[in-house]
Amino acid sequence: MKRWDPSGALAVVTGASSGIGRCIAHQLADQGTKVIVVARREEQLMETLTSWQGNPPGSLMPIVGDLTEQNTRQKIVKTIKEQGHGGLDLLVNNAGVGAIGPFGEASPQRLRQVMEVNFFAVAELTRTLLPHLRLGHASVICNVGSVLGHCAVPDKSEYCASKFALHGWSDALRCELAAEGIQVTLVSPSTTRSEFFNSLIETDSGTASKSIGSWSPQRVAQHTVRAIVHRKREVILSGGGKLLVYADRLLPGLIHKILKRPRYAKRANAN
Ligand SMILES: NC(=O)c1ccc[n+]([C@@H]2O[C@H](COP(=O)([O-])OP(=O)(O)OC[C@H]3O[C@@H](n4cnc5c(N)ncnc54)[C@H](OP(=O)(O)O)[C@@H]3O)[C@@H](O)[C@H]2O)c1
Repeated sequence: MKRWDPSGALAVVTGASSGIGRCIAHQLADQGTKVIVVARREEQLMETLTSWQGNPPGSLMPIVGDLTEQNTRQKIVKTIKEQGHGGLDLLVNNAGVGAIGPFGEASPQRLRQVMEVNFFAVAELTRTLLPHLRLGHASVICNVGSVLGHCAVPDKSEYCASKFALHGWSDALRCELAAEGIQVTLVSPSTTRSEFFNSLIETDSGTASKSIGSWSPQRVAQHTVRAIVHRKREVILSGGGKLLVYADRLLPGLIHKILKRPRYAKRANAN
């Protein structure tokens, strides 16, 4: 199978002001990719640039903006055109938000916000950038999902819904774009030690303790970049993540029995 070549490529990475997105941007730039990095927090996004020690300088290009706004998508298109590269070779849809707590006690805004960022913003950015991806070399759309887009757990209904939507949409899009040579790669991390748990929407503080066995963002990024280079269809990360997903596929009744226990509902924290 044709590999995706990072050297000399042009990429867009969303949610690159921290965590997994920042590490993906750095690792791509290390391998010679020019990366347009997008996020809302300007100071943190500039840190993504200053904390990269590689060459040539200018490999990372910042766009400050909210991905739920059309204006941000237009700024991304403008920057792609300014590069004179002739197309876009990689789009990494990584930006995402979470929320923890029972569905029945949450406001409708919690569901709206999670779906807007984790699903609608991803779909609309991809729609906008498709003409440019069609002009790229062995182009890849990499969607950062979650193991919770394969197996749903209590207290994370909005997040699970958004990542299941991303999963289904990625599978459909992959079939649609195969004839055009564009690969759609779905990467599904498990719990990762990032700022994710500091920015949960409408969530009681203290609910967000980290799980044992979590991965570093660097490690998740390494596996993501490898999946992109090998133009993989799908990767599920971490032993625990794989166990959860495959057990749910093989023994859904058993997994339901385990997950419905109130004790688990309070402790569930895989993402
Ligand atoms: N951490 C985990 O345990 C875990 C597990 C499985 C999957 N994931 C997924 O991995 C992805 C990255 O998460 P992470 O762990 O690296 O968390 P993170 O450090 O909180 O990063 C999330 C990124 O998304 C950006 N973002 C959020 N809302 C945005 C918006 N409206 N517009 C633009 N950018 C926005 C944030 O930047 P600004 O705030 O500056 O905008 C930040 O750069 C997410 O899709 C998440 O669902 C995470």
